[in-house]
Amino acid sequence: MTEDDQKLAAAKAAVEYIKDGMIVGLGTGSTAAKMVDLVGEKVRNGLNIIGVPTSEATAKQARENGIKIASLDDVSVIDLTIDGTDEVDPQMRLIKGGGGAHLREKIVASLSDQLIIIAENKKMVAHLGAFKLPVEVIPFACGALLPKLEALGCTPAVRMNSGEPFRTDENNLIVDCDFGKIDDAEELALTLSTMAGVVEHGLFLDLADIVLIGTENGVRKFERNELS
Ligand code: A5P
Repeated sequence: MTEDDQKLAAAKAAVEYIKDGMIVGLGTGSTAAKMVDLVGEKVRNGLNIIGVPTSEATAKQARENGIKIASLDDVSVIDLTIDGTDEVDPQMRLIKGGGGAHLREKIVASLSDQLIIIAENKKMVAHLGAFKLPVEVIPFACGALLPKLEALGCTPAVRMNSGEPFRTDENNLIVDCDFGKIDDAEELALTLSTMAGVVEHGLFLDLADIVLIGTENGVRKFERNELS
C-alpha cells in the first residue's frame, strides 16, 4: 500500500463521520485534499453540508467540487473538522503547518465540536520534533524573533518559496524551527504563544478527538477519550 493509498484510506474513513446538515471544517494539505474530493463526491450524490475551508487553496478546491462554503463571518460553531497532520504522537499531540496553513487550521479546529485527523502511517511518531515546527510570524518582527527562537533550543529558518520568503494566506512569514526532539510540548507552546510577533505555532495540543491512520493493515483509530 503506498503512502497515497494510506492517506486515501484514512480520508475515506473520516468522511463517514459527516452527516447531512453539518457544518464541516475542511483542512489543508495533500491528505485533506483527498478528503475534500470525497466530500465533493458525496455532495454531488445529495449530501447537504456547508464547508469551512482552512486555506484559500482548500476554498478553491471546495468550490470546484460544488461544496457550499462559508466563512467565520457566517458560522461560529463547526460540527466537525477533518484535517491532516505532519506528526502525531501517542498522546494525539500534533505538529501541523507543513503547508503553511496552521493559523487558519487552528482557528477552525478550536471552533469545532470534533476534530478528526487523517494521515499515513509514517506521521505517527514516538516524540514530536523531527518535523521542523512551523511558527507563523509578523514580517515586521521576524528579524528580531529569529535569535529568540534560537534561544529556545532550535535552529530557525525563514521558509522560502522560489527564492522569496513564503507568504501565508494572512500575508505573514513562516519560521521553521528545527528542534530535533521536543521534550515539553506544552511548555514550548506556552512560550511561543506569549512571544510578541508570533502569530501562531504549529503545535496542536488537546485538539484532536480522533486520529485515523492509514496503514498496510487498514485504518487504525485512536480516540482522545481512550488516552491514558
Ligand atoms: C497545512 O499547513 C498542514 O497543517 C497540513 O495539514 C499538514 O502539513 C499535512 O499535510 P499533508 O497531508 O500534505 O502531509
